[in-house]
Amino acid sequence: MSLVEGGRLERRLVVKSPLPSRLTTRRLARARNIADLRRLAQQRLPRAIFDFIDGGSEDEVTLRENQDAFRRVRFSPKTLVDVSNVNTKIDLLGQTADLPVIVGPTGASGFVWPNGDLALARAAAKAGIPFALSTSASVSIEEIAAMSAGRRWFQCYIFKQREFTMRLIERALRSEYDALVVTVDFPVGGNRERDHRNDFSVPFRYSPRNIFDFAVHPGWASTILQHGIPKLRNLDGFTASNDAMTVASSVGRNYDASFSWDDLKQIRDSWPGKLIVKGIVRPDDADKIVALGADALVVSNHGGRQLDGGIATLDALPAVSVAVNQRITVLVDGGIRRGSDVVKAIALGANAVLLGRASLYGLCAGGEAGAQKAIDIVRSEMVRTMQLCGIPDVRSIGPDALSQRTSDSGMGTRGERTILAAY
Ligand SMILES: Cc1cc2nc3c(=O)[nH]c(=O)nc-3n(C[C@H](O)[C@H](O)[C@H](O)COP(=O)(O)O)c2cc1C
Repeated sequence: MSLVEGGRLERRLVVKSPLPSRLTTRRLARARNIADLRRLAQQRLPRAIFDFIDGGSEDEVTLRENQDAFRRVRFSPKTLVDVSNVNTKIDLLGQTADLPVIVGPTGASGFVWPNGDLALARAAAKAGIPFALSTSASVSIEEIAAMSAGRRWFQCYIFKQREFTMRLIERALRSEYDALVVTVDFPVGGNRERDHRNDFSVPFRYSPRNIFDFAVHPGWASTILQHGIPKLRNLDGFTASNDAMTVASSVGRNYDASFSWDDLKQIRDSWPGKLIVKGIVRPDDADKIVALGADALVVSNHGGRQLDGGIATLDALPAVSVAVNQRITVLVDGGIRRGSDVVKAIALGANAVLLGRASLYGLCAGGEAGAQKAIDIVRSEMVRTMQLCGIPDVRSIGPDALSQRTSDSGMGTRGERTILAAY
């Protein structure tokens, strides 16, 4: 299908992600860290939307644990090393990335900033890092390909309508996406209780509470009204009706809970590019992913939004990394809010990390400029951490960057044997 078909080209020319106001720009300039961006996001968004992004499932144990796991890790800095020049570039799946960071897939981006997916893609491109477009994005596969210059990956959910799923994959292939990310921790949606409490549901229900919530956040409401309620652009044709609410509710009921190893193998066989499997926390699953011929996996629990009580991703990472044994690329996400978290993740076996909420908070706070700010914060914190740890090159970050006391958290730091023993 060409871009011109179905009026896509016409829409493509009008996809815009608005600039932030002067006030927002001033507030962004004052943000020192990701927590500041989160606060700005909270101020700007209606509570139901903020909670949708910020929240996790059930008691949010895994959501909290993801961040706490990073806090338990301690560095053991080297001194008297020349750190006047720091290299943050890595080879990531055959191409150079300016940072060991990817802007991960987040489906709600269009609800927080008009055409938010495009803003995230552009921020990632400016930072020289890949962007992963969610299946549930509000800007289509083709539009992102046409309008953002950077390296792009497509994240695919698996629907019962297997033909539709395969068509999405084909569209990503035609639009020359570098990599396909198949998310495997989503056989059914997680139980996100904040959303129930806030009457935030799909299809959207207008209740007195959320109408009031929207009314007291006029900045957000006016931008959304100006640009129209976001649609899930990749899912045009998912139902007979293209009405956003019908599509969204139908998607929710149509994740394929029967998807298993043989099906993943079929996808591997039909996708000639890089294949990344997202949502792995067990070493035995990691081993199977390698055997299946994937190019990378993401140690992920969906940011604590799916199974509550599941292991924190940083705690899962060392054993997965040992099982993979450098045969494929290991990525990790969940709870990354500081540049030092990136260094810790690499020290414990990751090649690179995905940002989820960190870049999303930036987007909520100020669109593309906010997302750029989030990436800049992570970059500058990461560089300073490396300098203070006596590590001038990201490629030489290893377990010896960490203190033995890290084993308090159940993780070894002195190479493979200690790490394995801890599991
Ligand atoms: C609002 C929101 C939407 C998300 N949408 C998707 C999605 O469409 N596909 C996907 O694979 N993961 C999705 N994720 C999970 C992220 O890709 C990532 O795994 C997670 O956010 C990492 O945790 P962190 O937010 O603590 O960094 C979403 C996460 C959030 C917060």
